[in-house]
Amino acid sequence: MRKQKKSYLKSQNLKIFGQGKLNGIVQISGAKNSALVLLAASLLTNEKIILENVPFLTDIEKMGNILKNLGVDLVDKNSQLEINPTNISIKELPYELVNGLRASFFCIGALLTKFGEAQVPLPGGCNIGSRPIEEHINGLIALGADIFIEEGIVKAKIRGNKNKLHGTHIKLNCPSVGATETLIMAASLAEGRTTIKNAAREPEVQDLCQMLNKMGAKIYDSGKETIIIDGVNKLSGCTHKVIPDRIEAGTFLIAAAATSSSITVSPVIPHHLEAVTNKLQESGSKITIKGNSISIKGIEIKGVDIETAPFPGFPTDLQAPFTALMTIANGESKITETIFENRMNHIHLLNRMGARISLNKNVAHIKGVKKISGMNLVGSDLRSSAALIIAGIIAKGRSKFYGLEHLDRGYENFELKLKNLGIKIIREINKSTFEKNGYKGKPKSEDLSKLKAA
Ligand code: UD1
Repeated sequence: MRKQKKSYLKSQNLKIFGQGKLNGIVQISGAKNSALVLLAASLLTNEKIILENVPFLTDIEKMGNILKNLGVDLVDKNSQLEINPTNISIKELPYELVNGLRASFFCIGALLTKFGEAQVPLPGGCNIGSRPIEEHINGLIALGADIFIEEGIVKAKIRGNKNKLHGTHIKLNCPSVGATETLIMAASLAEGRTTIKNAAREPEVQDLCQMLNKMGAKIYDSGKETIIIDGVNKLSGCTHKVIPDRIEAGTFLIAAAATSSSITVSPVIPHHLEAVTNKLQESGSKITIKGNSISIKGIEIKGVDIETAPFPGFPTDLQAPFTALMTIANGESKITETIFENRMNHIHLLNRMGARISLNKNVAHIKGVKKISGMNLVGSDLRSSAALIIAGIIAKGRSKFYGLEHLDRGYENFELKLKNLGIKIIREINKSTFEKNGYKGKPKSEDLSKLKAA
């Protein structure tokens, strides 16, 4: 499997030359959040799964390593992954591999339903809030599992002497994406019918259901508030193409709006981005949708309010980038984060760049300014990293962006794509760390690309 040299990421930074303009077409990668759960779903069969359009990201590499540790054979052919789960031997996910990747927890439903038991450490992930798991656990208990949490490990086993979970009615208290995915996977091999009410309707959940149905599952109404799953005895292999990453596409559209630029993002599924394109239009950008592409022409930036919400609402993952756009809007805007309690990590740095944002818990009041200025920036989670890079592109002067270990978790070739659109952005590496890791002399640009591409 392709490997990113994570040890290097902490010694790398991006030098961003501000007041840039974007122009051209940007190729959108496969969706990280889909690919992660589809990898987990491959544990449900004994046959080969071919996943196409898989993005090259450290989160995907981590999930791949978790699968390999379970005995799954993975062959990586560029953006295509051949997943052969025939030889899975253990049902326990080691803490070292799971740490920092919340989606790894979503394997619990697949492992439990297929093997009758599973042990998964409590999940980590982006530092954006407490991210509890009781919706996953309560749903699995309702499906017939006994669950104990001991020393940070969630231990699940099918209750009694049964070898199958049983269908049931589940009503989620909140439409958690991860819990919906965990429970769909668990119910797909359970005995009888399961209904999940207040289910997440995100496109990534729908992508999971589509792949499972290709594998022989009987899942109805994904994308609606109540999902119905009729358990089957066995799931088969299949070939499936990961949907385009709506969050990556939205990030580029916001960057274009913020720099009064004209770009096209493709391929995308335009209705996945409707809440975002509506807000961009309201703010003064011209949006044109043609087939599987969206073009934007940034004309003016008016202050608009956004409030994050589960799909089809405005995605929490694009709240930080949109906040960066609003820093230079004409007028005021109010950004309300309703999904995660700690997702405003970008605000203090945006203010240091010259933005005028007052933060009250999870509500940011922004008074648009004429300009912000470049400075040293550190990303503390994935989406706030994207927001700060957009701010660096808008800003007057130069910025250095640190914290690439977050960015590279979720954006494939981000700076290369920006560069291709005309942004002056350079990945730099700290020389002493470079030498400590076995490379001699001054790092050459081809060495840097080797590190990136390794
Ligand atoms: C997924 C996405 C993430 C996105 C989020 C919301 C992946 C790998 N990550 O995360 O990028 O930002 O959806 O769209 O797909 N909650 C509970 N109890 C639970 C589970 C969740 O209270 O048992 C709460 C969370 O604290 C949060 C909200 O529900 O406030 C949404 O979380 P959830 O939808 O579960 O997010 P993830 O699946 O972790």
